[in-house]
Amino acid sequence: MTNVAIVGVSGYTGLELLKILIHHPKFNITYVANSSGEKSILDLHPSLCGIFEAPVMIADAKEIAKCAKLAFLALPHRSSMGFAKELLDLGVKVVDLSADYRLELETYEQHYCPHIDKKNLKKAIYGLPEMYREEIKKSSLVANPGCYPTASILALLPFVDMIDENYPIFIDAKSGVTGAGKKCSNNTHFVSINENIFAYNPFKHRHEPEIVEKLYKKSGKIFDINFVPHLIPASRGEMIDAYMLIKEDIDPIKILKAYYKNEPFIRIFDKPVDIKSCSGTNFCDIFAKCQDKKLYINSTIDNILRGSSSQAIANANLMCGYDESLAIPTIAYVP
Ligand SMILES: NC(=O)c1ccc[n+]([C@@H]2O[C@H](COP(=O)([O-])OP(=O)(O)OC[C@H]3O[C@@H](n4cnc5c(N)ncnc54)[C@H](OP(=O)(O)O)[C@@H]3O)[C@@H](O)[C@H]2O)c1
Repeated sequence: MTNVAIVGVSGYTGLELLKILIHHPKFNITYVANSSGEKSILDLHPSLCGIFEAPVMIADAKEIAKCAKLAFLALPHRSSMGFAKELLDLGVKVVDLSADYRLELETYEQHYCPHIDKKNLKKAIYGLPEMYREEIKKSSLVANPGCYPTASILALLPFVDMIDENYPIFIDAKSGVTGAGKKCSNNTHFVSINENIFAYNPFKHRHEPEIVEKLYKKSGKIFDINFVPHLIPASRGEMIDAYMLIKEDIDPIKILKAYYKNEPFIRIFDKPVDIKSCSGTNFCDIFAKCQDKKLYINSTIDNILRGSSSQAIANANLMCGYDESLAIPTIAYVP
């Protein structure tokens, strides 16, 4: 058994981590924390009544190091790197769900804030198992990918050599409201999003440079990604519609099936995908169609599972020498 800590347990991704880890056969939750402590887990998550109880601590790296070998940081960016630095110095492995260790220094500081842990940033592995499985196994610090980048990169990866990079790639993305975290804002207020849909941060969302950077690392090509996210009136789930020109006509389903043939958490469909069929799971579902050198790729994930918490636990499984699939959810919340 490996003892683990969850920091940020009161948030959306913190709850999803808890829900999986409670029944994980190899991970034992020994510490849960948020910024204020004091409350019982049941005050935060009454849905866990009769299932799990533990005191909620004010997050403290030294206390974590006394009782856990690995910590999940489900914190906002900037807060995360302070904890990660201390935890790593104390010998605790870290899976960071924030953006703090995902990007090269220059890109990070351009889009987020000054970085306070440059040493560990260099060592962090980007936690997309389909790209970096072997590196994740040997790492003590995994930067869990962003939710939109997970769905976008998995959709585009098999096609990087076929895309005509003289033309832009357009990504139209849609997310359920949990993607914005638990704090309510004008956009996420019930009255704003109920029976509504709207774009936000067109061409300047922080996930755009993450997609560009990771595709560059894989292909050596700097793609002109044009990313426009939308908020939709759903609690969870994300959909990517990507449009691009390719060099010659291809059979994209055949390519997807061959590329992902050994991947346990990618499903290829021969018709457009929907968010509900992968909601509650770690799957990324993908469909694609090619016509007259135009390629359309359609992918879906559950943002608080494959886009964060279940992917984080799959990474932790790899880091601790367990099977990647251990306790990872595969049955969708349908109907
Ligand atoms: N939501 C998604 O779909 C998604 C997907 C991919 C990645 N992520 C990333 O994952 C991280 C967590 O996201 P989320 O949606 O779960 O956020 P959230 O719902 O806003 O929760 C944030 C959590 O962080 C805690 N926290 C904040 N500052 C802290 C501090 N200084 N010390 C200890 N705890 C602190 C909060 O505790 P309090 O209760 O005390 O405020 C809360 O538990 C973010 O970096 C986010 O960008 C989220």
